[in-house]
Amino acid sequence: MDAISVIRDKRDRRELSGAQIDWIIDAYTRGVVADEQMSALAMAIFLNGMNRAEISRWTAAMIASGERMDFGGLSRPTADKHSTGGVGDKITLPLAPLVAACGAAVPQLSGRGLGHTGGTLDKLESIPGWRASLGNAELMEVLGSVGSVICAAGDGLAPADKRLYALRDVTGTVESLPLIASSIMSKKIAEGTGSLVLDVKTGSGAFMKNAEDARELAATMVELGQDHGVRTVALLTDMSTPLGRTAGNALEVREAVDVLSGGGPADVVELTVALAREMLAAAGLSGADPERALADGSAMDVWRRMIAAQGGDPSAPLPRAHEQHIVTAPVSGVLTRLDAYAVGLCAWRLGAGRARKEDPVQAGAGVELHAKPGDRILEGAPLFTLHTDTPDALPYAQEALTDAYDIGPSEAFAPSPLILDRVT
Ligand code: URA
Repeated sequence: MDAISVIRDKRDRRELSGAQIDWIIDAYTRGVVADEQMSALAMAIFLNGMNRAEISRWTAAMIASGERMDFGGLSRPTADKHSTGGVGDKITLPLAPLVAACGAAVPQLSGRGLGHTGGTLDKLESIPGWRASLGNAELMEVLGSVGSVICAAGDGLAPADKRLYALRDVTGTVESLPLIASSIMSKKIAEGTGSLVLDVKTGSGAFMKNAEDARELAATMVELGQDHGVRTVALLTDMSTPLGRTAGNALEVREAVDVLSGGGPADVVELTVALAREMLAAAGLSGADPERALADGSAMDVWRRMIAAQGGDPSAPLPRAHEQHIVTAPVSGVLTRLDAYAVGLCAWRLGAGRARKEDPVQAGAGVELHAKPGDRILEGAPLFTLHTDTPDALPYAQEALTDAYDIGPSEAFAPSPLILDRVT
């Protein structure tokens, strides 16, 4: 077998055989196939797609490139959630301890932010002392004793995806349905969870801008999970407006703690509870009551123990950026639109995100939203507070907000649902 014939077949729109897929993934992981050859193949897949049989084999080959974890020894059923990424998406933070408080074990292997989307590990690292990297033994220990763990995926899990994802990131081949579905599902299946709930986002702040593409991605991932024995369900959710009232690392941790204290923004609470119900049902725990676990403090108790088990101090004050800048409303009226991508871009430029994987992020940087679509606002009242340690970034960050919102008469506001569909 050779890489050139595999690239030519996909370039000329021929279906790749199982043997070709197994060979190329294995040879790429071992360094036998070069990055430039894999880039050419990724672009051919981006342009010509893959059918379900090819996606399924590609996913299986990426799983086989590394180790598989096994949570069979735990006394509780396992449930995990994966979001395709968005702006202000801090849902994993309250969700993991909430589902654990309701009786499931939640092994949440998470990622970092790239571009305008935030990453769960970056948010949690704003808590003084908290560590993202745990060995497998420590991960098992925290999961067994606390019930939930949020940490970085180890190097042994789907190493083919690690190499390929870094390559896609610099070759314009991220936004490909077969490559996204196989990338996400290879990691989740290798992780060994018994059930999985996918939060597939659509709208300006998501990878999939269009709802039909997002639905197709959700259906492909649900099928991949089920083919590999993982009970999988997906919610299709709106990411045209940011989730909650903050975008940025420590700002979002603060909001997640508000939710665990029984408060927090209505949309964050709605999605957290809906995903918790799905995870609990998939894990066979439909009788549990996530709303009660938020109200009675049991989810907060798991949160505090989870943070402390990973070296963090749950009582420590969170970092605050050195500089705050308020943007006021230019007119009075109702906020009829607030664009997720623009807010994500603004937070990124303020220092909350990174341009390259190795860049540091500012813990305190980000955007606070003083109004959400549907809210009435007066001319001159605060609309956004921008937080940053690098005040030079303020004009460029503020520029991202120029066309980010509309203020108009109340009739111009059309409320839209947060949860658009359920895919099984
Ligand atoms: N997240 C992943 O893990 N992989 C992708 O391809 C896109 C988002």
